[in-house]
Amino acid sequence: MHVIKTSETLIKHLNALRKNNPVVTIGFVPTMGALHAGHASLINTSVAENTVTVCSIFVNPTQFGEAADLETYPKPIENDIELLVEQGCDILFLPDYEDIYPDTYQQQEFPIDGLDHKIEGLSRPGHFQGVCNVLHRFFMLLSPTRAYFGQKDFQQTVVAQRLAAITNSSVEIRITPIYREPHGLAMSSRNIRLSKKGRQNAAFIYRAISQAKEDVKEMELHEAIAKATQFIKAQKGAHIDYLLAVDTATLDPVQTLDSANEIALLTVVEYEGVRLLDNIYLK
Ligand code: PAJ
Repeated sequence: MHVIKTSETLIKHLNALRKNNPVVTIGFVPTMGALHAGHASLINTSVAENTVTVCSIFVNPTQFGEAADLETYPKPIENDIELLVEQGCDILFLPDYEDIYPDTYQQQEFPIDGLDHKIEGLSRPGHFQGVCNVLHRFFMLLSPTRAYFGQKDFQQTVVAQRLAAITNSSVEIRITPIYREPHGLAMSSRNIRLSKKGRQNAAFIYRAISQAKEDVKEMELHEAIAKATQFIKAQKGAHIDYLLAVDTATLDPVQTLDSANEIALLTVVEYEGVRLLDNIYLK
């Protein structure tokens, strides 16, 4: 695996690949490092679908609200490199701050129809615009054929799709299923903050939303949601931040299954003081 630290070297490298093989496809997996099996599944999919896979590790300051969260973000680069090599990643792009945001760079406000202000955006003002800025920079630098995002961060996938559309980017946004721990909890770097028992118990979140997916076949959407809410609330120490069915195109809440083409049930549950995200497509 090539470890490339500047955009200049990366562009030269990719241009040489494109020159040698005009039908080369470049799969791009943007990350902030501290990689786990969830990230590995994205790399894996990209390796299977493209000639060349580039993974970036860049802890993007523009998407963090609290400076402290940015400073304490883990950076286990040796482990990350090992995982990427194991997955068959071809290039690790490891730029520094000035490379992505030179002095001349002006932060942009992308017109994404308020997708950035809803749901997670309510408690994280500026977060999704920060994500848009960094993704736009990466897409411009790499011109990837496809870019890979985990369904785990559902709102981010919708924002990335909208960004690609409004910037007329040729990149195809690919969304890969949530990679889960054996008992069902969505894999996340936050899971290590749970106790051993809590980590197993927390599978109740996935059970609740999977059951809701079954239930909507036989009951009204609001009834299925009420049942899932009750189930989660019955778990000791669990607090629902939100549990709502949304139209995946607008992220607006829906009351019935026939009100949109595609509907997802999104939830955040606080358990043992950890915010756990999960979601499932209802249709
Ligand atoms: P990061 O949190 O490092 O996540 C990188 C990618 O891994 C995201 O697309 C995320 O959805 C995916 N991912 C995380 N856990 C997953 C799981 N259990 N299953 C499947 N995919 C999973 O998300 C970011 O970084 C940043 O916002 C970024 C897109 C890199 C922009 O800075």
